[in-house]
Amino acid sequence: MDLAYRPRRLRRTAAIRRLVRETHLRSEDFIYPLFVVPGTKVKEPLAAMPGLYRWSVDLVSDEVKAAADVGVPAVLLFGLPEQKDELGSEAAKRSGVVQRAVKRLKKEVPEVLVITDVCLCGYTSHGHCGVIHHGEVDNDATLELLAGIALSHAEAGADIVAPSDMMDGRVLAIREALDEQGFTMTAIMSYAVKYASGFYGPFREAAASAPQFGDRRSYQMDPANAREAFREATLDVEEGADIIMVKPALPYLDIISQLRGEIDLPLAAYQVSGEYSMIKAAAANGWLDETTVMLESLLSIKRAGADMILTYFAKEAAALLARRHA
Ligand code: PBG
Repeated sequence: MDLAYRPRRLRRTAAIRRLVRETHLRSEDFIYPLFVVPGTKVKEPLAAMPGLYRWSVDLVSDEVKAAADVGVPAVLLFGLPEQKDELGSEAAKRSGVVQRAVKRLKKEVPEVLVITDVCLCGYTSHGHCGVIHHGEVDNDATLELLAGIALSHAEAGADIVAPSDMMDGRVLAIREALDEQGFTMTAIMSYAVKYASGFYGPFREAAASAPQFGDRRSYQMDPANAREAFREATLDVEEGADIIMVKPALPYLDIISQLRGEIDLPLAAYQVSGEYSMIKAAAANGWLDETTVMLESLLSIKRAGADMILTYFAKEAAALLARRHA
């Protein structure tokens, strides 16, 4: 190392720091997750996720427009049903909230990319991501239902379907079902590397999707495993996924970084509900500066190697970046 080298030379002014900056956050990196509920004129605040709401179909496009106005290119939709049952039957209904929201968004904000979460947990009475047989989640019996849900989303006009259930073989089952019905151009963003995480807590309250017995450790990944991430991701690539996702993000930056070197598909990272709530809660107490920590956490996810970030901060962060660049 050249002993005359002084790292501080390149940190001296804002201009020089900008010039040598290696990673850049952009509004087009963000995907904004939204919760859609039955009814009309519903804008219900989420207790554990300050600043976020459950939206009825008639109101959701205004929120999506507001996000698009500050540069957010894509949204991810979660639905809550009128009624839950053992098989989560409402999830694949043409008249379901997600299907109706997709149609509406495609008409009212056609420039925004619409991604839908494909899962059963918000729709089943037991709150698990699959069908229950003899007290266990039955993998293969679930595949057909997931394919049906994905198909109903594609029919409504979704650009991308995003299976989050973690059943084995679901990407292939969905790809085949879509192709059979002529939806060869509907892409699949696979929640390929999804850990059984405590950071999903606030989401489960928002989506009313907490399991009524047991937990999700028989299908979501063990937080202790890093090598297994490569196997999970490779499987989904082989089954036909177009985008691979790692979830959660901040506690799993090592996994994002490792997969960036191993997988050549676009890589998404999900900054999940608990990651959002922690920052909001600390900021509300005056313990952290919200803006600084929000941008720093998003930047670190990009620096680790994510091409895109699913984040509840999407609208807020994009608005901030837009103001900075103005
Ligand atoms: C549904 C699903 C979950 C999340 C996304 N899709 C919850 C879970 O797996 O329990 C979590 C998202 C978040 O915490 O923000 N399977």
